[in-house]
This record gives sequence, C-alpha cells and structure tokens, in this order.
Amino acid sequence: MKTSLLLFFLFLFFSCTEKIAEQAVEPPAVGLIADSAMVVSAHPLASQVGVDILQQGGNAVDAAIAVQFALAVVYPGAGNIGGGGFMVIRENDGFTDCLDFREKAPLAGGRDMFLDENKDVVDDLSTRGHLAAGVPGTVDGMFRAYEKYGSLPFSQLIQPAIDLAAKGFVLTEKEAEGLNENQEEFMEHNTEKPAFLLKEEGWKAGDTIYMEDLAKTLTLIREQGRDGFYGGETAANLLAEMERGGGIIAQEDLDRYEAVFREPIVASYEDYKIISMPPPSSGGVALVQLLQSIEDFSIDTMGHNTAATAHVMVEAERRVYADRATHLGDPDFYAVPLHELINDAYNESRMESFTAENATPSDQVSAGDPAPVETMETTHFSVVDARGNAVAVTTTLNGGYGSKVVVAGSGFLLNNEMDDFSIKPGFPNMFGLVGGEANAIVPEKRMLSSMTPTIIEKDDKLFMVVGTPGGSTIITSVFQTILNVIVHEMGMQAAVNAGRFHHQWKPDSIFAEPHAFDEETTRVLEKMGHTIVNRDEIGRVDAILVLPDGRLEGGADPRGDDRAAGY
Ligand code: GLY
Repeated sequence: MKTSLLLFFLFLFFSCTEKIAEQAVEPPAVGLIADSAMVVSAHPLASQVGVDILQQGGNAVDAAIAVQFALAVVYPGAGNIGGGGFMVIRENDGFTDCLDFREKAPLAGGRDMFLDENKDVVDDLSTRGHLAAGVPGTVDGMFRAYEKYGSLPFSQLIQPAIDLAAKGFVLTEKEAEGLNENQEEFMEHNTEKPAFLLKEEGWKAGDTIYMEDLAKTLTLIREQGRDGFYGGETAANLLAEMERGGGIIAQEDLDRYEAVFREPIVASYEDYKIISMPPPSSGGVALVQLLQSIEDFSIDTMGHNTAATAHVMVEAERRVYADRATHLGDPDFYAVPLHELINDAYNESRMESFTAENATPSDQVSAGDPAPVETMETTHFSVVDARGNAVAVTTTLNGGYGSKVVVAGSGFLLNNEMDDFSIKPGFPNMFGLVGGEANAIVPEKRMLSSMTPTIIEKDDKLFMVVGTPGGSTIITSVFQTILNVIVHEMGMQAAVNAGRFHHQWKPDSIFAEPHAFDEETTRVLEKMGHTIVNRDEIGRVDAILVLPDGRLEGGADPRGDDRAAGY
C-alpha cells in the first residue's frame, strides 16, 4: 500500500506544485502572548472572569469552574447550567484526569420515545421542547471538579457569574443576533414567557441584558451547593416546568445524577502525547483514530489544505465516522471496543482500502471489525495557570439555546441533548450523524458526544490545550488545528484562523468553509469524486500553545466573539 501511495502523492505533488504555490496562504496572525497564564473562551467577559480568578491565586480548575458559570450567563446559547460537558485536566507534574458531566436520559425515557405508533420519528421532538432535555450534569460536574481540585472558596468562583446576571451585561452583536433569531422559538416552546430573553423591537449590540432569576439560582447554588440546583426551589421549578410542558425529568433523576471521573484517552502521535476525552464522548477516540490513520502519509510535504492532504484526511474521516456510528456509546451501558479502535495497526489497516486517485463512496465503507487486543452549539474554553496546570472544557446545551425551554422562575435554559442519542437506527440527528444499538436510548444512559477537549504534551511538558464546539465537526476541527501546528508549523492563532473542512462518512460530502480550498484544489478534489458543500463556518476553536520560550500564545476563534486573556 505504502509504495503505491507514495508514487501517487509524488505525482499529485509535482503536478500540482504550481497550483499549491499559488494557493492563498493564511496570513501569519499571532494571538495574545502571555508570560504565564491564560484563558481563551467564547466570550471576553468569561475569559476575564477566568483570568481574575487566576490572579486571585486560583488554579486552572478554579478558573474553569468560574468560566463555566460565567458562560452560563454571558453566552446563553451554549454556556449553561442546564446542560453538560467534559473536562480534561493536566496538572503540572503530568498527572491527567477527565471529568464526565454529560447529561443522562431520564429514568422514564426509552428507546422509542421520539417515535410515533408507526415507529416513525416525530419531527422536532428530540430537538425542541421539554422532552428533548437530558438530565443536566453541569452543576454536579462543577462540584465534583471543585471537591477534587478546587483551592479558592467556591463562593469566590461563582460570584462573578452572579454579579453578571444580576447587574446585567452588554450584548455583543453576535449574541444579539442569536437571541433575535430565536424569539419565535422561545415563545413557542415555553410554558411561561421567558421575558428576559424577549425584546419586541429586537436586541442590538450594546443593549444590556439582566438575568435576575438566573442570579437567584446561582445564589442558591452558592449557598446550598449541589442541592441549590438538584433540590429545593430550583428542582421544584424544573419539575413544575416538566409537568407543564410534557417533559419527563423527575426528582429521582436529579437525585441520582452523578458526574464521573474517567481514565483519559492517551495516545502518541509522532513526538506528541494526546490526552483527550473517552466515551461517552467519541471525541478522543476518533481524534486518535484520525491521527493514527494519517500518520504514514507525508502531509507535511503535501502542504496545508491541498487536494492531496484533504483527500487523505477526508478518507480517514470517512472511515473513522463509520466506526463511530457503530462502535461508540456510553461505556456504562455498551461495551465500547476502546483499545481495539485506538490501535495503530487497526487504523492503518482501515486505510488499506484507500484509493489514491479517487474518493471512496461512503456506501462502500462500513464500520471496521477491530480485532481484540491485550474509546451546532457547544462551547469550549482552555485554561493554563501560572503553575503550568491546564484544563480543557467543552460544554453544551446541544443546539443553540438547547431545547429553547427556560425553567420558569429559575432563569436557565435546558439542553436538547436527547437528540445526540440514536433515536432510531440509521436516522440522522441534527448534525446528520447516524448511529445504532451502541447509542440507543436507555434510562440513565449518557448520549454519545463528539466533544473533544484535548491537551497535548511534548517531551513530557505541556504543549497545547485545544477544543471547539460544532457538533459532528468538533473532532475534525480539533484534528485540523493540531495538524496545523504540529505538521504545518503554524502559530496558535494562525492555526485557528485557517480554513476548515469536514467529512463524517454520511452524508457523503466534504463540508468546507469558503476559504478552506482554492479553486484548483476544489477542482482536483471534485475530479477525484468528492462532493464539496460550502459551509460558512466550521467550529470555533479556542486554544493555547506553549511557545518554545515558555510563554503562551492564545488562539481565539475569529468566527465568534472569542477572546484570549492572560498575564
Ligand atoms: N451536543 C454535541 C455533542 O455533544 O457532540
């Protein structure tokens, strides 16, 4: 395989050299450089909250907790206390850990809950309204993280979010647009008007928004701990909301919810150690599979976003996402063949069916049979503290503003994460992802995720912290950003800025940002048999790179309001 591949790429490389040279290269753009500590998140106010906590002597986990709560206020489309997520931690001595605070299916949920009597999927039931919500995990997750790693008083970590909610904050243009686009949905899916999100004349940048109910809920969490959310007034409001809107989350679900620490996925790629999230996220497994699939190809000499490079990456993605659809689910309920999937030899063998000149139609690709051997709307933030501890958190409501349901009286949005289950075998979810038995709905099971919070080491030292939102495109955006730095030698900001593309097996298309490929690259890829579909934006990567001199470079995604802050 390797000889024919090499010949093909030599041919492609020399036949396209002129075109590659002409290709628009991302202008070198440097992100914020900080001497010792940094936070990069989806919102400038949240990044500042994190840096303030670091300057008050907090560690990276303290800052992450504060940022998570701040994003629940200033970034309501995805920041949350009504959703869930994943945290990857690397302490400065190399110790690594992962926290899973993913939502769960309610006890009263079941395999066919989104199907009608003919076993057909009921439109929008898994994406909008009360039934779409999984049992929220964020608040329990923040307390678990705090108990194990926190150093400052918890009240100090949550107070900035309380202040932002109570005193109000100024909307950015993007957030104003997001709220305006969802006004009808907020009206349609709520049992009581969520007045704080509504504005008849429309929101605009510069408007101040106040979230008094959310401030009260956050204060209850500050005063009562976990019970301030899963018990008392907040739980009563949530259960009343379920009752009014036909939802099924019950007090027993809230009582039983527990975030769990899991073993990180750890694998090497070239001279680097990849540390990422295990199932129930597919992110870490798929990322490692992708890196192992392309390791034997000389994509450094093929060049960044050339036809040759994109072809190899897309063919790897096609195969890895086929595996994802069959083999990945919540490991507490399904025997995920983790070690078999992140096996170098297995992923190399999957690429043996790679056709050098042509795209492999997805219908000719199915999940592999790994042999036993002796894992759009979300938000990601990256934190490095002055002691070199690092945290990567990706957290989500799933769709923008989740289920659109606000818990009346408590002021927070509920997720629509139930759509991340395979609600019917082979039926695509809102990201077009398909699945089967491994990701079928079972009470208390966690739905499969693509979130890929990742930390990378080089020579046993911290090298990069990275992650992104973007549903199914999360894995491939992280994959590209890592390659942009490690293989294509870009700085952090340039790697984040660079045009992205994505393939997920089904549908059989490459989704590409307008600036991902030039005309000639597009022509060559189409000639190979690839279908290219324009997508305005893919992912919003927020990342931190440790520079050779030990300083930090932030990569804050210009596709959003994302911002690096540091000192
Ligand atoms: N809700 C998007 C994901 O978890 O992949």
